[in-house]
Amino acid sequence: MTLVVLPLVLARNLQPRANTITLDASTTYQKIIGFGASEAFGHSNQFQNLADPIRRQVLDILFNKTSGAGLTILRNVITTGGIEPKSPGSATNAPTYTWDGNDDGQIWLSETAQNEYGVKTIYANAWSAPAYMKTNNNANNGGYLCGVSGQTCSSGNWIQAYANYLTQYVKDYQSSGVAISHVGFLNEADASFPYDSMRSDGTQAAEVITALRATLDAAGFTSVLINCCDFEGWSLSQTVLQQVKSAGAIDKLGGLTSHGYAGAPGAPFTFSNLPVWQTEWADLSSAWVTSFSSGGTSSGLTWAQRIQSGVTTSNLSAFLYWIGAEPAASSSSAMLVQWTSTSVSASKRLWAFAHFARFARPGALRIKSPSAGGLGVSAFKNTDGTLSLQVINSGSSSVQFTVSGFGNVSQVQPVLTDDKNDFVFGSKIAVASGSFSATIAGMAMMSFIPG
Ligand SMILES: *[C@@H]1O[C@H](CO)[C@@H](O)[C@H](O)[C@H]1NC(C)=O
Ligand SMILES: *[C@@H]1O[C@H](CO)[C@@H](O)[C@H](O)[C@H]1NC(C)=O
Repeated sequence: MTLVVLPLVLARNLQPRANTITLDASTTYQKIIGFGASEAFGHSNQFQNLADPIRRQVLDILFNKTSGAGLTILRNVITTGGIEPKSPGSATNAPTYTWDGNDDGQIWLSETAQNEYGVKTIYANAWSAPAYMKTNNNANNGGYLCGVSGQTCSSGNWIQAYANYLTQYVKDYQSSGVAISHVGFLNEADASFPYDSMRSDGTQAAEVITALRATLDAAGFTSVLINCCDFEGWSLSQTVLQQVKSAGAIDKLGGLTSHGYAGAPGAPFTFSNLPVWQTEWADLSSAWVTSFSSGGTSSGLTWAQRIQSGVTTSNLSAFLYWIGAEPAASSSSAMLVQWTSTSVSASKRLWAFAHFARFARPGALRIKSPSAGGLGVSAFKNTDGTLSLQVINSGSSSVQFTVSGFGNVSQVQPVLTDDKNDFVFGSKIAVASGSFSATIAGMAMMSFIPG
């Protein structure tokens, strides 16, 4: 018996494996909001002051949907020294707001992203309330917003004043021609830092959310959504958001937000059906890495996998890197792109973002795309009905595969990123009845779009 069967088994194993990726566009999951980054901490100002043509090249590489990464989300910081630098004395006194129309270069960047590149998701995020609204009378080093549960100050309860201040900031942007789409009032409130930072738990956050929602609505900003809570990691964010829910305020939110530093996105947040965003993550300790296959947690491959796993296993609708672009500094990969006065250097992380941001546009629905052949697989149906497929091969050998269910197209075009290629469009491949075959090299990422 064995002598007869064994050769047959061997023969079968020598055949190329039938790695079939069966797309099912009729099974849809979350809607994509977008992919993006921030230019906080003064980088927007450096960006604005950069001379052309480099400035235009950096803008294009981040936001251009035909030549760059096509990012569609910009996360701005609401700085504590900004629109209400001086205390009105007490929480119930009328504030004196100031507006310089520049906001550290963020107005220029937001206007340019919005008006020239069609970026519609502008997330304005406060790291802290101004010092005088806080228990520690300091913008830095944690402290609480005066008046939230368990936190009192002789100057009064500043919850409404903070809501008024955030709403004023949205108005100021509107007066400068920028439509803020989302506002956040906490950043990593699970810890204290020697820069703008403020503590909060979910019960306390719920008190601010309730006041802020009512204040935005009363000012006519019913479509400006509130994001919460940008804690440092996934399970910290899950816990605080469940507290927000228990306190009855989760339905006043527009998005559930988490950073990736203290815990990568994991199991979906099943306690709410609001969209979930990963709003800040980077490897802050490695040097400037541009490689795809090497460079550990700053390699292009790592970020391609993190984004893909975020959308396929964590139900993310948005994924943001920390900084988009900064002046060159060899000691950091906290950004996707670095510039000098004469050159622009894009990391493979940037091109990993491009595979998603360019081909899963805002409003796209993720579709069913089971993996095959050990490949990482994700797929989307865009609002115009076109599909896109992202395939990641983290192994060292090439893998042949067949795709079925790509829809009613006659050709697909592969787009390749690996150590040698930056988002390179390849020769078109014929599609028959929604099906085509392709090969992906080891340590590579490919997207497939209608050709
Ligand atoms: C994007 O890049 C294309 C191709 O280089 C260029 O024609 C277009 O003007 C750019 N878009 C913007 C908004 O600059
Ligand atoms: C995924 O997120 C969407 C909102 O974007 C939500 O409606 C859906 O219930 C979520 N699914 C899971 C499994 O959490």
